[in-house]
Amino acid sequence: MIKAVKGTRDILPPVSGVWNQVEATAREVFRSFNYHEIRTPIFEETALFSRGVGEETDIVSKEMYTFDDKDGSKLTLRPENTASVIRAYIEHRMDQIQGTKRLYYLGPMFRRERPQKGRYRQFFQIGAEAIGHDSPVLDAEIIELVAALLGSCGIHDSRLLINSVGDPESRGRYVAELKERLSAHLPELSVDSQRRAVTNPLRVLDSKDAQDQPIVEKLPNIHDFLNDTCRDHFAAVCRYLTDRGIAYEVNPRLVRGLDYYTHTTFEFLHGALGAQNAICGGGRYNGLAESLGSKVPAPGIGFSIGQDRLLMAVEDAKPDGFEPKSLDLFVAPMTEDAFNAGARMAKGLRLAGRSVEVAPAGKFKKLLELASKSGARFALLIGDDEIASGRFGLKNLATGEQVPVTAVELAGSLG
Ligand code: HAM
Repeated sequence: MIKAVKGTRDILPPVSGVWNQVEATAREVFRSFNYHEIRTPIFEETALFSRGVGEETDIVSKEMYTFDDKDGSKLTLRPENTASVIRAYIEHRMDQIQGTKRLYYLGPMFRRERPQKGRYRQFFQIGAEAIGHDSPVLDAEIIELVAALLGSCGIHDSRLLINSVGDPESRGRYVAELKERLSAHLPELSVDSQRRAVTNPLRVLDSKDAQDQPIVEKLPNIHDFLNDTCRDHFAAVCRYLTDRGIAYEVNPRLVRGLDYYTHTTFEFLHGALGAQNAICGGGRYNGLAESLGSKVPAPGIGFSIGQDRLLMAVEDAKPDGFEPKSLDLFVAPMTEDAFNAGARMAKGLRLAGRSVEVAPAGKFKKLLELASKSGARFALLIGDDEIASGRFGLKNLATGEQVPVTAVELAGSLG
């Protein structure tokens, strides 16, 4: 039997209904902050990600689904969407429209990681990017937007970690210092960190390997290397967050796994997720457009929420309004005429916004069984007698109580 590929999964009803509610809530929050949807392709030229995200990152060096197309071009299933959004911004000359461009997206991403709870090879992100300005006001806006979105989904117990990874000037000095310090301890580091100490020393900072910790703990703090511009930017972001009542913890080790970040980086963590506890990651990327070959600068900041993880947190919090929606009415007709009468009533109810399932004509007992399995709140029992009298049996499936109703009374009787 053919099964879903390792690291992918089917989202089935009724859980898919909760996914829809989370997406509808996210769209509503985006609308309230004036963000508009962008839909980019699911595959792009490989160079977009290798240049944008960085050759030395885990994503590009190990995790991309890349294939040769028949015309010889190299294509990759998108492992993330920020590079694609910036490509689209440049390609469509969105810089020529005045003002900050506020874009959001929802959709699947692909990374060939080792699957575990909260980590998949096809996973879903809800994200946004504010492009065209380097003001810290936008860093605060983006973080406020994540907090609002999580809050609207009933998640009130996440932790926000923030940091600054500086600009190329200050980070260059910091990385040089890290390289030098780490080179003195190479044999003591884990195999992964030995490689990163040479190729991407910043990533050693967020190593989870216990062997690396004694060395990592003694490494210098990036904040001691920030120049005045970086320091001012970070201080302003912190001030804006405090002003909006958003609690945060500064974590100088938060460097994140993508190379495009400058200045602010942040993550939201959530306790219900286990080892994969980052529900959202984001940051500023002022040089990304230029690294993709653009002459037009497109400074920006954005975030991506892991939707699979957000759903785990929603399941844990059980907020009101996020239960799977139940069926309003199950129509149980006992004859062909009853079926036609039921189908006509269903048409009117659906137009009025009710959810209705009409069963094919059948035996009374079997229909009642189907009705109670359907999860409907009410069943409408129709036989030839009911058609003749114009009064139908409306059964409340939770209480078992049954009352006669006319077709006109039906809509008002469903609560
Ligand atoms: P990221 O940290 O790589 O950032 O991913 C963001 C979030 O996606 C993570 O915090 C996590 O919740 C979720 N995620 C990542 N990988 C997986 C996986 N294999 N399975 C399940 N969930 C996963 C980015 O993708 C950046 N584009 C964020 C950004 C937007 N930065 C600026 N703008």
